[in-house]
Amino acid sequence: DFMREMSGLSNMEKELKSLLGISRVLIVPQNSDDIPAVKSNIGKEAARLLEAKFPLYKKIAVTGGSTMAAISKEIASDKRDSSLQFIAARGGLGEDVLHQANTIASLFAEKTSGAVKTLYLPDHLSAEAYEMMMREPVIKEMMELYDQTQVVVHGIGNAEEIALQRKSSFEEVEKIRAGEAVSEAFGYYFDKNGNVVYRIRTAGIQIEQVQKAPFILAVAGGRSKAKAILSYFKIAPEQTVLITDEGAARKIIELT
Ligand code: BG6
Repeated sequence: DFMREMSGLSNMEKELKSLLGISRVLIVPQNSDDIPAVKSNIGKEAARLLEAKFPLYKKIAVTGGSTMAAISKEIASDKRDSSLQFIAARGGLGEDVLHQANTIASLFAEKTSGAVKTLYLPDHLSAEAYEMMMREPVIKEMMELYDQTQVVVHGIGNAEEIALQRKSSFEEVEKIRAGEAVSEAFGYYFDKNGNVVYRIRTAGIQIEQVQKAPFILAVAGGRSKAKAILSYFKIAPEQTVLITDEGAARKIIELT
């Protein structure tokens, strides 16, 4: 719109879009590192974009995080559609309840009168426990749902921050450090070239399942997230739309 043109944000959107090789970028003004309300604005833009997809796509997987939580707050409660199904992108009890994928999926469902599929599993399973879990019928059912996912909505985090926040074991943190992980999304840790260096051992959506979803919405803002965004977008599928803020966008352009 006019305000975007005036502030030069629409030019930056075009620049980022080609730089990251994706279908669309939306930038909200200012930097969410400094101004918390900017995260709500990312949430608003994301909610509008997602609502526009409701008539077309019904199976929507969502991850956790504060940016995802901001979207759930902004979903309009008049966008009711009982055929929608929100799926927690992974089981996870490692982090703050309000920011868990399970909680966020439930909030989306509540707002829209849609259904929800949650998965309550610890974030850090032993290899043995993981093997056994994957054979459980409820988990298998979840995996089939991930296969049918049409929309993935996810945040992007700074690798180290997320690892510490999840109370990861010493070994995990070591792997993340040794692999020089920069970003994290849906339980995967990526280095600056977008290589997966570690994956959290819990049931969750696989990167291949994300990549075949027809629509993907990535939400991450703040100057402090620029490197993480750049890292993840080395491998982000081109059907991804990024909603970010001016703080992150300016820094990404500076870095490239
Ligand atoms: C975490 C998710 O809760 O939030 C991560 O598990 C995600 O997958 C991260 O990368 C992003 O967090 P935020 O709060 O910066 O949006």
